[in-house]
Amino acid sequence: MSQCKIVILGCGGVGKSALTIEFVHKRFVTTYDPTIEDAYRKQIEVDKKPYVLEIFDTAGQEEFTSISDCTIRCGDGFVIVYSKADRDSFTSVKSHFDRIHRIKDTNTKIPIILVENKADLNLKSAVDPNEGEQLSKELGCSFLKTSAKLEYNVEKTFVSLVKEISSL
Ligand code: GTP
Ligand code: MG
Repeated sequence: MSQCKIVILGCGGVGKSALTIEFVHKRFVTTYDPTIEDAYRKQIEVDKKPYVLEIFDTAGQEEFTSISDCTIRCGDGFVIVYSKADRDSFTSVKSHFDRIHRIKDTNTKIPIILVENKADLNLKSAVDPNEGEQLSKELGCSFLKTSAKLEYNVEKTFVSLVKEISSL
């Protein structure tokens, strides 16, 4: 059975843990408990093939960010999350992207999916509707809008990433 190591990156409070827990346990966590570092395992089938996903849910809050280079080096695929309600989380996407490339130091394409989370929020968005897609094109990675709360595109995020990893 194929194993995929997936690393979730992004600023504090954007919904990395909520997306991961929604995917793994099918429940939405409403409280905010900043992560230090958590790991999850889930078995899924993609295109009739079984995969074991090891998901590393990292810390976004600065006082906890000690995501080791090793975690990134071992990652097969990455989800970079920002929140549509938090401009700074969008601005910092590039630094996460650059860090992955710096540490992986490879010429082959790295499977990365950029995710705009909290799609359910009906507020004046801090990020324009097309900005995420535009940035993903510049970076050359895939893009999805998600809501952990509504379970919108959560499974799709992980399945798309596994497809990208397995197509390498
Ligand atoms: P760190 O662990 O500190 O890096 O934060 P995180 O990115 O893991 O954020 P977390 O998943 O803990 O979510 C922060 C808060 O946002 C929690 O109160 C969640 O309930 C809320 N949240 C996460 N995803 C969504 C979403 O899709 N919609 C809404 N409305 N709230 C969300
Ligand atoms: Mg978290």
